[in-house]
Amino acid sequence: MTDARITVHTEAGIDRIEPELHGHFSEHLGRCIYDGIWHSQESDDEWFREDVVSLLDDLNMPVLRWPGGCFADDYHWEDGVGPREERPRRRNLFWSQDRSETPEEPNTFGTHEFLDLCERIGTEPYLATNVGSGDPQEAANWVEYTCYDGDTELADRRRENGREEPYEVRYWGLGNENWGCGGQMTPEQYAREYRRFATYVGSMDNLMLDHDLELIACGFQNHTWNRRFMEEIGNTNWGVEFPLDHLTLHHYYGRTMSVAEADEEKYDKFLIEALEMDEHIERIAAAIDAVATTRDIGVIIDEWGAWHTEAVAESGLEQPGTVIDALSAAAVLDVFNHHSDVLTMSNIAQTVNVLQCLVETEGDEAWARPTYRVFDLYAPHKGNEAVQTSIDTPTRDVDDNELSLVRASASVDDKGETYITVTNLDCRGTHTVEIDIEGAASASSDVDAAVLFEEQDPDLKVDANNADAFVAEDLDVTVESDTLTVELEPSTVAGISVQ
Ligand code: AHR
Repeated sequence: MTDARITVHTEAGIDRIEPELHGHFSEHLGRCIYDGIWHSQESDDEWFREDVVSLLDDLNMPVLRWPGGCFADDYHWEDGVGPREERPRRRNLFWSQDRSETPEEPNTFGTHEFLDLCERIGTEPYLATNVGSGDPQEAANWVEYTCYDGDTELADRRRENGREEPYEVRYWGLGNENWGCGGQMTPEQYAREYRRFATYVGSMDNLMLDHDLELIACGFQNHTWNRRFMEEIGNTNWGVEFPLDHLTLHHYYGRTMSVAEADEEKYDKFLIEALEMDEHIERIAAAIDAVATTRDIGVIIDEWGAWHTEAVAESGLEQPGTVIDALSAAAVLDVFNHHSDVLTMSNIAQTVNVLQCLVETEGDEAWARPTYRVFDLYAPHKGNEAVQTSIDTPTRDVDDNELSLVRASASVDDKGETYITVTNLDCRGTHTVEIDIEGAASASSDVDAAVLFEEQDPDLKVDANNADAFVAEDLDVTVESDTLTVELEPSTVAGISVQ
């Protein structure tokens, strides 16, 4: 019996799915950097964890944000350049490093280490500057140090520190959560600070750099705040234009759910919370549009993902990696595809060991979590044109909400190949899904399909011993006239390409 039907409207394009929608975020928090990307806090030598770097390399990450998070607004970049043994040890106001509960930062991993990592894995760097406790001079100097090819003291210092050619850093964030850990600012106050910082940082690309900069303001998941920020941003008497290319928000979900104590009912609530992403994107885009009528400002979801009760500051925000989290990522990536007309980037939190990380380490072992597999399965969407889908799906009432149990998104590449991702969010039942691809599929179509998480417990903790069981497997697809039919077991996600 068919219980869900998806129609893919291949002629109804939404917009290009920017590859940056599959971006990542890494912070000096817990074991993300030390023990995650870099071997230890104290090493003098180049000491990337090659096992982690290789996993990240295979992911083809389009963009990586660093160094925070809350850490960014207490970070002074000059502490993290120059000979490692001379770098100062500083407080880390917000987070412990590794699991020691010691809130101190050795600065072993700094600007060069981060930018070299990005070059190694072919990722665009995104640096978050310090607005909360820093000043515009410090932020502009960071741009000059990293990106300027001239004869200034800062450019020379970069050369002395081992890097002759300037780095190419396009994305610059001005502050992080400045309504909270980044200075507890009102929207008006942050808008004024933003203008001040953007004036100096944004002026750098006129004469000094060979590439353009894209400046990013940090918004809030309170959309009145965003609207007030936007109103104040435009409130200059002289109409002077200054750069504001993207406005961000952070959406974490599942904060009252313990992974250890979860059950089917809690999963449904958790997924409803994850799907609030949809409304957040609509509302922040509306806040921008209401004010910025003559400007094109993109929406970035700068930090997102599952954050469960296990993830507390004392444990370095670590929590088990599970299929249910991975399913939420699939559902959210579908939401991103539907909003490809306004979204310019999104960064899941955080890359290694922290929150909904994709890669986890323990001692000498590193492995991919189920969420990593979802990013792999969704990779063919990157750079495609997202197209409209309509879905007739069974639903479940969850408190005052309705959870759509089968969800999907679709895109078309420049050769006309259609890629569809379909998620069965129902952890209790199998669903048979019929897919009609307008004008594209027929009995003679070349169809390839893969599925994740068949016969896996949604709450099983994934570790080094069982991680390989979560890779994609072939999925049977029946093609009859122009309809594809698949059967999706509980808590599974499929990727189907049709040529
Ligand atoms: O990702 C963990 C923290 O969550 C970040 O430092 C902060 O920006 C957010 O509140």
